[in-house]
Amino acid sequence: MGGNRTQILIVEDEKHMREILKMLLEGEGYSVFTAEDGGRGRDLLEKEIFDLVITDIKMPDLDGYGILKKALQVSPETPVIMITAFGTVENAIEAMKLGAYDYIHKPFKIDEIRLIIKKALEKKDLARQVTLLKERAITGLEHIVTANPSMREILKNLSRIAQSRANVLITGESGTGKDLVANAIHNLSDRKDQNFVAINCATLPEGLLESELFGYMRGAFTGAAQNKQGLFEIADKGTLFLDEMAEMPFQLQSKLLRVIETGSFRRLGGTTDLTVEVRIVSATNKDLKEAVSNGLFREDLFYRLNAIPVHVPPLRERREDIPLLIDHFLKRRDSRKRFSKKATELLINYPWKGNIRELENVVDRMLLFSDAEIIRDSEIPQEITAGLLPKPGPAAEIGQGIELEPYLEDIEKSYLIKALDRTGGKKIEAARLLGLSFRSFRHRLAKYGIK
Ligand SMILES: Nc1ncnc2c1ncn2[C@@H]1O[C@H](COP(=O)(O)OP(=O)(O)OP(=O)(O)O)[C@@H](O)[C@H]1O
Ligand SMILES: [Mg+2]
Repeated sequence: MGGNRTQILIVEDEKHMREILKMLLEGEGYSVFTAEDGGRGRDLLEKEIFDLVITDIKMPDLDGYGILKKALQVSPETPVIMITAFGTVENAIEAMKLGAYDYIHKPFKIDEIRLIIKKALEKKDLARQVTLLKERAITGLEHIVTANPSMREILKNLSRIAQSRANVLITGESGTGKDLVANAIHNLSDRKDQNFVAINCATLPEGLLESELFGYMRGAFTGAAQNKQGLFEIADKGTLFLDEMAEMPFQLQSKLLRVIETGSFRRLGGTTDLTVEVRIVSATNKDLKEAVSNGLFREDLFYRLNAIPVHVPPLRERREDIPLLIDHFLKRRDSRKRFSKKATELLINYPWKGNIRELENVVDRMLLFSDAEIIRDSEIPQEITAGLLPKPGPAAEIGQGIELEPYLEDIEKSYLIKALDRTGGKKIEAARLLGLSFRSFRHRLAKYGIK
């Protein structure tokens, strides 16, 4: 997306129709571009990135098929919805075979088109999630910083582990680098030119997780508008990374076990067995063995996944890595700043429950709030020195009493502005600096009317 608003392109030669759609969609908060003929639609497709394209089929110069073809070529993940005149459904079906997402008839019902658009955009988000994860898969060993003997041992074994076809289960506390290890295993293997597909079992509801993994056939359930490949197919001959394995619903565990045992499965609503050869790397920060003894996780599946166990130790058990990691993060931010010896010592002694991710956030935040070349121990946040929860700056003197709400809001506001300043207005980065989700960051900006 160009900005952070969802962008939709409407290609429609009938003025009236074009304007109704534009009004409707702008009313829903989307940013809408319009083209009154195919040629202009094609030009826009080349210039902008759209989240959704809606195109009439019948147009004088370049018709809807031409727009569809162009869209598939410049941005294959952008869903395209075709508009057809009543009584020409065949055209629409033809377009769907060519890769259109769905179609609507003229005249249409407002609610119908709203729903189709909403679904199309949701689908696009899922698709994007998967490619992002694929694009991210460029880590080799060189990105894993460590001087710790047991970590070194793991890294040394990783190349050999990568060469084997056996499934790997990576365990370790949150933020210890399990994702990095999973990436490295793929990139060190002879599967590296095939897909690395990652999915987080904790973030999708059960039904969606199932349809993402196994795919579906058109009509398998409401909303299954076309056939769709599952991640197992996409990961064929490559690696499937199942993150947060402990969250895999029990019923899906059985299905997963079956695929591992037989190497084949069916898409939801499908009638033919598909055969795949996939290496499964899974990760968890929970104790899966305990989940097994509590009856929450299938024992047979556990053994299948855990053919090769890799345990990533927490940061507090490899404190020698802390100064190296600090350096690494400073370099990655292109920062000339350094931490004083005393400041580094404080960081070395902190328990780091959030492990490397937490360290990374603290370093980033200190870069943000310190103007000195050398960051001194006095600047280390109190939460670190006290080993306590985050506190926003020095507490005000209570004296005769203070108004806590506006006081906290002032602090919050100043941090939001500082973060935006420091990142040159890049909201995603600013949110990260403050340890906030993008949503919550955006919400706070709106609350204080910060532009
Ligand atoms: N040894 C390392 N060297 C450099 N960077 C690291 C190292 N380990 C972790 N990181 C960085 O720390 C952050 C957290 O790592 P990662 O996402 O791999 O952790 P995780 O164990 O998968 O966490 P979670 O359990 O929350 O999924 C990432 O930004 C990663 O790049
Ligand atoms: Mg992870």
